[in-house]
Amino acid sequence: MCGIVGYIGKNKKAKDVVIKGLERLEYRGYDSAGIAFVDNNKLIIQKEKGRISNLKNVVDFNNKANVAIGHTRWATHGIPNKDNAHPHRCGKITIVHNGIIENYMELKKELENVGYVFKSETDTEVACALLDYLYKKNNENIKNTIKQFQKLTKGAYALGMLCDDDLNSLYAIKKNSPLIIGTNNNENYIASDVPAILDFTNKYIVLDDGEFAKITSDSINVYNKNGNMVNKEIKTFDGSAEDINKNRYDHYMLKEIHEQPEVTKKMIDAYIDNENNSFISDMPDLSKYKNITIVACGSAMHAGLIGKSLIEEYGNIQVNVETASEFRYKKLFIDKDTLVIAISQSGETADTLEAVKIANDSGCDTLGIINVNGSSIARNTSKVLYTKAGPEIAVATTKAYSAQVTLLSFIAYNLAKNSKDINEIKEIQKFLTDLNKLPILMQKILDNEEEYRQIAGSIYNNNDIFFIGRGIDYALCMEGSLKLKEISYIHSEAYPAGELKHGTISLIENGTPVIGIVTDKKIADKTISNIKEVKSRGANVIYVTTDNLVKDGDFYDTKVTIPKTNTLLQPLLTIIPLQLIAYHVAKLNNCDIDKPKNLAKSVTVE
Ligand code: AGP
Repeated sequence: MCGIVGYIGKNKKAKDVVIKGLERLEYRGYDSAGIAFVDNNKLIIQKEKGRISNLKNVVDFNNKANVAIGHTRWATHGIPNKDNAHPHRCGKITIVHNGIIENYMELKKELENVGYVFKSETDTEVACALLDYLYKKNNENIKNTIKQFQKLTKGAYALGMLCDDDLNSLYAIKKNSPLIIGTNNNENYIASDVPAILDFTNKYIVLDDGEFAKITSDSINVYNKNGNMVNKEIKTFDGSAEDINKNRYDHYMLKEIHEQPEVTKKMIDAYIDNENNSFISDMPDLSKYKNITIVACGSAMHAGLIGKSLIEEYGNIQVNVETASEFRYKKLFIDKDTLVIAISQSGETADTLEAVKIANDSGCDTLGIINVNGSSIARNTSKVLYTKAGPEIAVATTKAYSAQVTLLSFIAYNLAKNSKDINEIKEIQKFLTDLNKLPILMQKILDNEEEYRQIAGSIYNNNDIFFIGRGIDYALCMEGSLKLKEISYIHSEAYPAGELKHGTISLIENGTPVIGIVTDKKIADKTISNIKEVKSRGANVIYVTTDNLVKDGDFYDTKVTIPKTNTLLQPLLTIIPLQLIAYHVAKLNNCDIDKPKNLAKSVTVE
């Protein structure tokens, strides 16, 4: 996934705006960066390998430019270098691109046959050459050029485009990759995501697939794929630039870990009517479905595993959790009696979006649990429930993951409270009371951050770190292990506690850290006996547990006790120590925590 920013206006220096916007989007990719700007009616391009700071070092910010487009890249086609960096220019056309042109090789051959020579390995340069070719073929009619481009290309693209013959306009073209148009008095913007424009405006238009726009400093004309002008709603983002600042924290990830109590309060305010012990928002009635399939990737899939446990236990409906990239290519057993739930922070993950399209085509109802308003997945599901986590900047998700788990606990509770017999269960009767106390309990754990920093200090030099647990605790192990891997680059694995003796226990060396999660009283003894097995082989055992489930004689090196709460909400407390341990291990290893190598915040390519 890459970041695109563009500016056209009379009030600001275009280069300042674009570079600032790119910095806000750097979480989307940071292999190279570039800018194209108009200076005295001449288009100039500057680009550099690596971070935006490298680009900033070469750009002259003194001369005023009123139009500029910029790009920060997550490499898909071609290694991160200057030639492959965007913007790309061909003839009179200059573009920045997020997405993948799937048929770029055949287009490249056809363009080479008519004399085009390519310098980079990118699909973007091919797209640029095609636009130039079509521009000439259409007697330099830019609208017909874009319409033909849309017909000839397959895949995903969000394009910012400048044309030498009309440098008082900025063009935006959108298909299967996010692109918004920010608007203010006498100035307009384009961007891949809202954080890029929040320093300047919170008013924006969301382009839909197949649409393109011609933008000047005081006009925005949006056209559909037939070239007819369409009216678009101007939305207002309910947040501020403050929401995307690090404030007093060293990293966005730490800030976002500490925002979790606040996010939980926002979820309660958005969904719960405490007066009437009911839901404010119209929670979907899932009881009419025979089964549920959850499709998601990465941490969102881990949240889905927790949702599975809770919905099956309390909602009495069978739930399958499918990794979206696998779901797309397997034999499916879904039909009109199946609800497909798509979980995604960005709402732009290509694998999850494609899985939703398959579910829609199979006649299923689809429900999105999404963090970014108006994102592609949100607009492709029959219904969407938004997580109120606000902009999540760190590549490693924390607060959005917790908000997903919170929403899934609401769904399980909503199912349970409608079925009379289960309503007698204490967990259900006390749910709302316990939910209202949850932010305080979360804060209690966060206030104990030093304890987790010390644990990190005892394991950050290890090459292998294992997480083991049963049931929901195993799902939490998977998320804790992913957090550790993706920001500290240490090898880690999560195992069902009962599985170690079937092979993995051979990996346990003297001092190997094993983080054992034990929060479920019903299966605590079993997990504890599994942990004794690794302890007797020299493991450095770190327990994350509640109350007195783990007795002092239970052979361990470190024990972290977290508050006990409602079973439906316990995962929201258990995950915090795992997030903090991962953060501090990465910090002690001087890793680039907010922008880990090779990763991007949302994977909009398959
Ligand atoms: C989480 O820390 C990872 N960055 C990654 O696994 C992420 O959860 C996954 O790519 C799904 O992203 P989404 O929620 O935006 O769909």
